[in-house]
Amino acid sequence: MNDTLTLLHSHHSDRDFTDAPVDEADLSAVVEAAHRAPTSMNGQQVSLVVVRDPARRARLAELAGGQPWIARAPVFIAVLVDFHKTRVAAARAGKEQAIHRSLEGFTVGAVDAGIALASLMVAARSLGLGVVPIGSLRRDPQGVVDLLRLPKLTYPVVGVAIGHVARPAPRKPRLPLAAFRHDEVYRSEGLPEAIEAYDGTLVDYWRTIGRTDGLSWSENTGGAYSRLYFPQARPVAERQGFTLEQ
Ligand SMILES: Cc1cc2nc3c(=O)[nH]c(=O)nc-3n(C[C@H](O)[C@H](O)[C@H](O)COP(=O)(O)O)c2cc1C
Repeated sequence: MNDTLTLLHSHHSDRDFTDAPVDEADLSAVVEAAHRAPTSMNGQQVSLVVVRDPARRARLAELAGGQPWIARAPVFIAVLVDFHKTRVAAARAGKEQAIHRSLEGFTVGAVDAGIALASLMVAARSLGLGVVPIGSLRRDPQGVVDLLRLPKLTYPVVGVAIGHVARPAPRKPRLPLAAFRHDEVYRSEGLPEAIEAYDGTLVDYWRTIGRTDGLSWSENTGGAYSRLYFPQARPVAERQGFTLEQ
């Protein structure tokens, strides 16, 4: 083990923040960690919007469906897929950009945004700050587009709230490693048993932390994935120019 692995193995999302501000030098170091992250084709189709303004964070908390930790944490960073800047480059080269109209383009942008998110989280946690990723930016993406004045060909895929932690969250258990790591080829054997075991582990975890309403993983995931929980994601992405024709 080393410090990096210890940090990664101790990952947990924090939602209980103090209102102590995040030091500007720390915030810059966190942003620069994501700026340095790799991107597909060096296309750099990711941008960040750093939000410190309390009123704007309060509005983001609302748009995310009422998540108080977004308003409470002093910093929120929205991570955008950004094919706006690549289109400027394409025009300079006398080309018309098409990639934003394809599933490939959206996949590339979303993967790169995920890598940037991971860098933001690791960097912030290495400085002793707490983080919680926020996908609920896609609950009302038009509201986010308007609030952050996002141009066409950008889309807010994810964000992260960053701040000083009041009470650290416990580490949430995961599915058994055998349901995650496959050597050489994918193996489905043992999956139902692994999930059954994890359902019990997760219910025990909720009880241990005093959450009497905690569902098993099967119930929770099955419930969430039985419906399109963010129906505005696609129409707003299309309005932003991500028409996914191909
Ligand atoms: C892409 C992504 C989006 C997420 N969106 C939210 C969110 O909107 N609100 C929230 O409270 N947690 C959100 N989370 C946090 C997950 O709920 C959390 O990572 C998961 O329950 C595992 O818990 P842990 O991070 O504490 O280990 C998100 C996590 C990821 C990776």
